[in-house]
Amino acid sequence: MATPVCIATWPFGRLAAMTASKLLLAGKPALEAALAGAQAVEDDPSVNSVGYGGLPDRDGVVSLDACVMDGRTLSFGAVAALERIGNPAAVAKLVMEKTPHVCLAGRGALEFAITNGFKTRNLLTPKSLEEWEKSKPKPPQPMPGHDTVTVLCLDSKGDLGGVCSTSGLAHKLPGRVGDSPIVGAGLYVDNQGGCAGATGVGEEIWRILGSHKVVEMMRAGKSPQEACEQAVRLMHQVAGRRGVHVSSAAFLALDPQGRHGAAAVPGTNFEFAVGRPGSLQMLKGVEVGG
Ligand code: GLY
Repeated sequence: MATPVCIATWPFGRLAAMTASKLLLAGKPALEAALAGAQAVEDDPSVNSVGYGGLPDRDGVVSLDACVMDGRTLSFGAVAALERIGNPAAVAKLVMEKTPHVCLAGRGALEFAITNGFKTRNLLTPKSLEEWEKSKPKPPQPMPGHDTVTVLCLDSKGDLGGVCSTSGLAHKLPGRVGDSPIVGAGLYVDNQGGCAGATGVGEEIWRILGSHKVVEMMRAGKSPQEACEQAVRLMHQVAGRRGVHVSSAAFLALDPQGRHGAAAVPGTNFEFAVGRPGSLQMLKGVEVGG
């Protein structure tokens, strides 16, 4: 028997970790708990970077990216550029369970969701429309102080599961896909190495396949904290090769023993929640400069 643990990104990670921890304590599988945690954030209209109420793209359309991964079987599913469905992570789980594929995008993802009983809705709230209008001249970038919800869980059987869900960068080009639905970039989960997730500028996270790197470093013996810090250093190095600076990015990780770690690019102000039996803490990711 393992002691269940859940970690989740940003201040809204508290809601995700609380929701997931209840299920883990009731003996539910890691992936089911992580999905419920992410879904609680997707459903919260006050969160403007995930699910319902997420900020729209350049043309005012909300499109969502998500993926799920099971650490026992390495099964995963993803959806990208999904419109009008507020729970993309649940659709991603069905892609994993019901199709021979691992990722559906755009119109096909929407059709698949509708066929499987998901109801369409307008994902734009009056508040998110107003915020989008106000921030219009800005280039696409993560919202300060929050972005993707990534939920990583270890269940009582010792299995790992993870979920990642986002509306991506506000004002992104229509059709832009970030790191969040890309397994290896925004999320990676393997019972034998650990699990990791990312948040921040998706293009930079994807470029280094950051979450997979973190898991492989844990597999090779690094602690979750060391592995996250090393991934941030690598991101700085790779961005430096193009003469650019990463404005905001963070990794968080959980190893098969339930130890956690998190590291971020300076200025990200990354916070995450850690739920263990009887405790829920908010912690700050260690900032690692280039
Ligand atoms: N990390 C979220 C995104 O870039 O879409």
